[in-house]
Amino acid sequence: MELEFKKISVVGLGYIGLPTAATLASRGVDVVGVDVNQSAVSTIAEGRAHFSEPDLDMLVQSAVSTGKLRAQTTPEEAEAFIIAVPTPFLDDHSGDLSFVEAAGRAIAKVLKPGNLVILESTSPVGTTQKLCEWIAKERPDLRLPDKHPDAPDIHLAYCPERILPGRMVFELVENDRIIGGMTEACTDRAEALYEIFVRGELHRTNAPTAELVKIMENAYRDVNIAFANEIANVCDALDLNAWEAIGLANRHPRVNVLNPGPGVGGHCIAIDPWFLISRLPEQTSLMRTARNVNDGRPAQVLDKILRQIERFRSPVVACLGLAYKPDVDDLRESPALRIVEDLAHKSEAKLLVVEPHIAELPESLSACANVQNVKLDEALEQADIIVLLVGHKKFKKIDSRKLYESVVIDTIGLWQMNIQKP
Ligand SMILES: NC(=O)c1ccc[n+]([C@@H]2O[C@H](COP(=O)([O-])OP(=O)(O)OC[C@H]3O[C@@H](n4cnc5c(N)ncnc54)[C@H](O)[C@@H]3O)[C@@H](O)[C@H]2O)c1
Repeated sequence: MELEFKKISVVGLGYIGLPTAATLASRGVDVVGVDVNQSAVSTIAEGRAHFSEPDLDMLVQSAVSTGKLRAQTTPEEAEAFIIAVPTPFLDDHSGDLSFVEAAGRAIAKVLKPGNLVILESTSPVGTTQKLCEWIAKERPDLRLPDKHPDAPDIHLAYCPERILPGRMVFELVENDRIIGGMTEACTDRAEALYEIFVRGELHRTNAPTAELVKIMENAYRDVNIAFANEIANVCDALDLNAWEAIGLANRHPRVNVLNPGPGVGGHCIAIDPWFLISRLPEQTSLMRTARNVNDGRPAQVLDKILRQIERFRSPVVACLGLAYKPDVDDLRESPALRIVEDLAHKSEAKLLVVEPHIAELPESLSACANVQNVKLDEALEQADIIVLLVGHKKFKKIDSRKLYESVVIDTIGLWQMNIQKP
């Protein structure tokens, strides 16, 4: 079958961009990956991913060895450009669009009439329009779809990504996608690009609706998690088991409370709702409260641990997990990491940290004299208190007899039901 796009550039080769680039390459497209991070580019050029994600190394290795994927630090001409750069927030919680602007201005230099530009980064409503304006400033010779909707030289669309770390290679292909063009013709072009590799349904809309949908999805998750975390705070105050109470409430046919945890981390759910809250504070009081509940949860967990530490003369605490979610090596915005950092500073207890997905502790912990990076068995043997912070597969397999001699604080409910002593 003749491919609609023979050469596509993916700008930003991180968790989203690299799987996208390698998947497109696996479908026979010539892919030019662009990233400002030289070390990431060098690793990819050697045929490896520069972060851990199941099946990705294999995909990258095959794409690079067949010559279908190249990685470099500067853009070159292509038929379509997919931008997947970071969108963190600023001090006032508004979106930091500097990476999107830099990427847009960089590709503008090599754009040609007939090109398609897609923004995939999670972005505040109106960002695709801004991208259009940044490109127009760099290239006044090109007709863009906001000013020339009937006959633009460049087509632009916003197509958010919703893949789950740990399942990215699978979900990239299987998930439904939202395709939000600046015009109908832009949507047509973007739809044709995703048809190259997506097996899920492609849902057409306009760019600002697509931008809102992505933020809404993460805000929805955040609000629901906040309810579960608030129940956990209530249960801690009443000395009740939150997981037992929630499990019973969920026997109601129309109730489905989520699992509480030590907080909300990562670079999506903990950040994206702010893109709406900072701009429309009067319309988003529920989302703001949810953010506050989830951001406050690590402090509640910390209090609980500190109360237990007081019971021991020279306490040893095993801290199981630092990542922001199970089975990944990603520590960004991780509540588990925050709890261990605060614990290291607020108590003199010896902390034995187990994080199977990283080789070395982050500097914020390795610099603390009372923190050690150890293997799971060593931590379980020595600990007076065992704090489970992340539901890694490895921790699920722990023999519950190894937990009997210690005080156990299970912040995610993994062991709640099965550590009753015989
Ligand atoms: N990771 C996820 O699970 C996920 C899911 C959905 C949406 N998103 C969104 O996708 C976007 C990218 O996220 P990510 O997790 O891939 O980020 P990331 O930090 O893993 O990767 C971004 C890459 O962009 C590069 N970069 C920065 N500025 C650049 C520029 N001007 N030109 C070229 N490259 C540049 C960085 O060096 C980095 O390698 C964000 O908006 C994020 O919110 C992420």
